[in-house]
Amino acid sequence: MLTAEQNKFYVEVGADKPMGKLLRRYWIPFAGASEFDAAATKPVRLMGEDLVAYKDLSGVYGLIDRHCCHRRADLSYGYVEACGLRCNYHGWLYDEKGACIGQPYEDLAHPQNNLKDKVRIKAYPVRECAGLLFTYMGPSPVPEFPVWAPFAWKGGFREVVRSEIPCNWFQCQENSIDPVHFEWMHDNWSERLNGGHEYAAKHLQLAFDELEYGFAYRRVREGQEENSPLWTIGRLALWPIGFYLGEHFEWRVPVDDENTLSIAWFYAQAPADVPPYDQKSVPTWESPIKDSNGHWVSSHVINQDIVAWVGQGRIADRSKEFLGASDRGIIMMRRRYVEDYNRIEQGLDPKGVIRDPEVAKCVPLALIGRVTGAGDLTRAQWKTHPFLKTRLIDHRHCFGQPKEVRDEFMRAMGFA
Ligand code: FES
Ligand SMILES: [Fe+2]
Repeated sequence: MLTAEQNKFYVEVGADKPMGKLLRRYWIPFAGASEFDAAATKPVRLMGEDLVAYKDLSGVYGLIDRHCCHRRADLSYGYVEACGLRCNYHGWLYDEKGACIGQPYEDLAHPQNNLKDKVRIKAYPVRECAGLLFTYMGPSPVPEFPVWAPFAWKGGFREVVRSEIPCNWFQCQENSIDPVHFEWMHDNWSERLNGGHEYAAKHLQLAFDELEYGFAYRRVREGQEENSPLWTIGRLALWPIGFYLGEHFEWRVPVDDENTLSIAWFYAQAPADVPPYDQKSVPTWESPIKDSNGHWVSSHVINQDIVAWVGQGRIADRSKEFLGASDRGIIMMRRRYVEDYNRIEQGLDPKGVIRDPEVAKCVPLALIGRVTGAGDLTRAQWKTHPFLKTRLIDHRHCFGQPKEVRDEFMRAMGFA
């Protein structure tokens, strides 16, 4: 249980709030790179700030204030140039570092004033990696960008899936260190939704560990083999807003105090008897969270999680919660956020920030789950593998995979 005041610490993400300051010390994903194939600009609300992301004609990404410094026009309606984004109202032009590099009338009629040198727009650095766009919204010096090892995997199919969730980010992230929900929310509830009444294997034992880049949970369920990676490795709540499950990542990105961007990155290795897939562009798609009747979608793993998150309320009231032994990981994580905030107040780096470029260029994570797609299984083995065979029917985690993405996935895996 938390007091209302303690709860605020975790949920408020504004730039002047403790958690807002802490989360701004990390590179966070905010979009798929392929979102900029069709339109060069996109309004982005992130950590309570209204911004616009763009890709200019030279292929450079920018993330700047949504509103022009001149008279506040909406820059998401601007147009991109060889360098930068131009406001559609009077043509002021900004580059990705926030410099104003053109003011057509002022430059022509009053060049001696150099007015543009007096103007700077808020700008955050953007880094593209594995089909995702990341930004860093904190103070200098900017930490190294961590290239998680799976981002360098080759020969497979990658996709980015996003959904906007109308609730606070922290209840989403607490789900990343919550092993028992899998049994009830995913296994047993799916069984009921499909008309069955069997109960899945029960959780018998849990362990939680703090690691360099997050917190792991490990589990033993009925019938599980002793050396199962579910117990020997576990799953990683990736610090501070992510979840890593071997062949996919999920991030719970704060849009503001009451909204979260769920953005996930999936990888599937082509089967052993298929030539390695050479992916030209990583698709990004929007997974709907409500059906045509206005009900939450409950058919897919992440959609089920979303039902839990939004069900906790717009901002979960933790003064009314009642934690048990299964919540030990949540308690460990909550403590670490507070300790991390105290660290940054003392001028220190928080957990997991990387300053060494050699370390950052390929950061290994425990490989639970990769066995399911490591490229050593043939197509015939895929068809009988308990997890992989479901991928041949539908996207397992997210509802609404577009047909063109599905077709390309099947082609990449050699099933089309
Ligand atoms: S408001 Fe943007 S150029 Fe005038
Ligand atoms: Fe889940």
